[in-house]
Amino acid sequence: MADPVADPAPKCPFTPPYPIPLRNKPTLLERFRIGWFQSWIQMLYERTYTMKLGSTQLPTVKAFMVNEMSLVAKVLDDPEGEFPKHELMNVLLEPMIGNSIFVSNGEEWANQRAMINPAFVHTNLKRAFPLMAAATGDIIARMKDKAREAAGQPFDVDPLMTHVTADVIFRTIFSVVLTEKQAHDVYTLFGRYQTVAQRNTMLTFYGFPRLGYRWRAYRLGRKVRGVFAPIVEARVAEHKAGKDDGKKDILAALIEARHPVTGKPFTAKELVDQLALVFLAGHETTATALGWALYLLSECPDLQDKLHAEIMEITGGAPTGYEHVKAMEGVRNLFREALRLYPPVGFLPRTPSEKVVWREKEIKPGDLAIVAPWLVHRNPENWSCPHSFDPDRFATPEGAEALKNAWIPFGRGPRICIGAGFAQQEAALILAEIIRNFRISHPEGRRPQPIAKLTLRPDQGFSLIFAPR
Ligand code: HEM
Repeated sequence: MADPVADPAPKCPFTPPYPIPLRNKPTLLERFRIGWFQSWIQMLYERTYTMKLGSTQLPTVKAFMVNEMSLVAKVLDDPEGEFPKHELMNVLLEPMIGNSIFVSNGEEWANQRAMINPAFVHTNLKRAFPLMAAATGDIIARMKDKAREAAGQPFDVDPLMTHVTADVIFRTIFSVVLTEKQAHDVYTLFGRYQTVAQRNTMLTFYGFPRLGYRWRAYRLGRKVRGVFAPIVEARVAEHKAGKDDGKKDILAALIEARHPVTGKPFTAKELVDQLALVFLAGHETTATALGWALYLLSECPDLQDKLHAEIMEITGGAPTGYEHVKAMEGVRNLFREALRLYPPVGFLPRTPSEKVVWREKEIKPGDLAIVAPWLVHRNPENWSCPHSFDPDRFATPEGAEALKNAWIPFGRGPRICIGAGFAQQEAALILAEIIRNFRISHPEGRRPQPIAKLTLRPDQGFSLIFAPR
């Protein structure tokens, strides 16, 4: 394997873990090995972080890394639909979310988005807030119990963050509270799915037989869907029988949604696909980003004190309310910086519908044109000290400018995340309540290392110490 080089940002403030770039481009064989046992961010070499448009020939596909912001804009802003999602999206996600809005393209996508948009009136931030606050209250109580039991020892906060965000989304979609068993099942099954999906993709790229990985992906997909499919079936039956007592959640809106051209409702399978997507996209990403934010905080006691003071001043010591969250600029900047350093969706794969020639490189239909938030967020052209943790950067004019132009954790253009506002409100609330209730520290020794599978995960959870304030 090529040699790693030293951290290139020694003069910057605290630099949290990221894979030290390799000195040289790895060979095909090295890439396979790294991709199989770790992930694509471990394959990156020094120049990848600054190149404008990189290219790599893999055995079955040619891949381009689109880094320069003018090209990023061409791919993502895409008003004419010239850069649809690449087939890779299907390999990765179809077993879990079928042909839902995240992976579909063209007219099919536009019709799905038209059907789903009204459902997101119910994630209208103010209406969702009491549900978020109730789920947050429950998780704080559990964390207090865990902290008492742990008596100063670290525990992994990753499953707890998955629980609270999955609970929020469960309450908003289905008007049902997520049980501990369901939370545990989703956490472990989806964790396994991430590895299976990643290996499935590596085998596809290299043209190797899929060795049962595809079958395993479908089996895990069925199990995760099995957590909520019975709720959907029961609600559809209630709706048909006119007995759904006027529930006003996302599920009710999707049951009532009609195709803009044919006027037909979603079929039962389509409904479960869309809900699987909203459920997964709606909790896993936020949970991971929260875990990274807590880890970053654990390294910075002064920042915790500063944010604690901000929270106490705004809330007067009461539980965080809807209006308070909007005023908590420090907490919001912490989450923005966690999303910049560790964007949960690390790469966005597209393909051109017609050949384009950029920087003397020809990109053809079928080629992968990847915009990677991971790289855009760590490019020194876009951000000063890009690998360093500095939430105050957003309060400077350059930081505010970069936030507008080169901060893309939710994507941009027509395919931008439907839940961006929802996620940021939810995360600020959960972070504020954790900071209000606990001091967080990091045990001596190992730091979490990022691994980029479907989402950017820590390699071995987030083991942190929580001391009640
Ligand atoms: C921190 C949390 C989140 C992150 C980082 C995130 C990130 C993203 C990204 C990057 C995309 C665009 C992918 C692309 O262009 O290829 C996306 C799409 C999407 N997200 Fe999120 N997301 C988050 C939370 C949520 C939540 C809370 C929901 C729902 C409640 C949600 C629902 C969706 C949906 C439905 C799409 C597909 C939109 C379309 O293609 O029209 N996401 N998300």
